[in-house]
Amino acid sequence: MKSRSTVLTAEQTTFFIRQRVARLATADARGTPHAIPVCFAYASGTIFIALDEKPKNVPPERLKRVRNILENPNVALVADRYAEDWRLLAFVMIRGRARLVESDTAGHAAAVKLLRGKYHQYETMRIEDNPIITIEVENAASWGALDTPESGGTFVLETIRGRRSVRRYLPKAVPDSAVELVLEAARWAPSPHGRQPWRFAVITKKESKQRLADAMGEEWRANLQMDGQSAEIVEKRLEGSRNRLLDAPVLIMLCLYLEDLDVYPDEDRQRNETTMAVQSVGAAAQNALLAAYDLGLDAGWMCAPLFVPQKAAEALGLSPKLVPHALLTLGYADGDPPKRRSRRPLDGLVIYRD
Ligand SMILES: Cc1cc2nc3c(=O)[nH]c(=O)nc-3n(C[C@H](O)[C@H](O)[C@H](O)COP(=O)(O)O)c2cc1C
Repeated sequence: MKSRSTVLTAEQTTFFIRQRVARLATADARGTPHAIPVCFAYASGTIFIALDEKPKNVPPERLKRVRNILENPNVALVADRYAEDWRLLAFVMIRGRARLVESDTAGHAAAVKLLRGKYHQYETMRIEDNPIITIEVENAASWGALDTPESGGTFVLETIRGRRSVRRYLPKAVPDSAVELVLEAARWAPSPHGRQPWRFAVITKKESKQRLADAMGEEWRANLQMDGQSAEIVEKRLEGSRNRLLDAPVLIMLCLYLEDLDVYPDEDRQRNETTMAVQSVGAAAQNALLAAYDLGLDAGWMCAPLFVPQKAAEALGLSPKLVPHALLTLGYADGDPPKRRSRRPLDGLVIYRD
């Protein structure tokens, strides 16, 4: 399983770029070693490491790793996976030559972009003001189960299979911090051109829920009557839906926001652009639902606002540029949901074409 090469193999690259932290070893001119954990990004044979210390507090040249690199550019970097199941152990060790890329020189801006792409925490840190350490990879050694996924895929599948639509909630408050994490998960959804064509309205006050339920209920009543449902059934369904809104501790209205999308001269492409945005709202919704479940919360999806977007927006005092598309209810399930969950077997859903 051991391999040595001048560039990373596909196996080593796959393992290496998924690691969030590595250990950087430097040495001074006399060979005295120094090792520290670092965040890093990798592209085309080069590793990039930011210096995130505030320049005023610690000038970069005062940092031991920087002084060592200036005295002796030979460095080693190891990224590893430890697990109690030793079949999962693995590491990639890289040797190379390091240098400092100053903030006003070529390649610095691209390196900052790469690092921010990997670590969202860098988005709000002024790493662009400091030099970046780059390491040209000279050779790499590796060992262990590089190709084994961290959890064998079970973690994500457990969450995906465990999540279920909940329609009745306990009267138990949801901490703001949990709601924020759910929204955080939603904003990391994929979106067309990365434009994030969604906005999220969070509703917790009873009066707001009531206004929303009233606004959506009117239209639904008219629709149900149009469908020829008996007055009794209409009232029962309306009451059920209303209670769902009022009883859920938190509501999140997912709104489509088209203002930042591309504009095309032809209808076809414009329609597809909108479709992509709607697909992306679905992705944000799924992120939110999975995050909620993973946080010990439960959630449900209500399509009602889609049928009365204007009324729903007005009831919540939202800008007309926000188009309500789906309402997520959030809270703690009042018992297991009665609906049986089943899925079609995979072979009824997949068409393989070689
Ligand atoms: C676009 C969309 C709209 C939905 N609208 C509603 C709804 O209005 N009311 C409701 O009770 N469930 C709604 N659901 C939830 C589905 O009924 C539910 O996902 C499905 O029955 C499968 O159950 P599960 O989510 O527990 O796996 C909606 C789901 C999607 C994806």
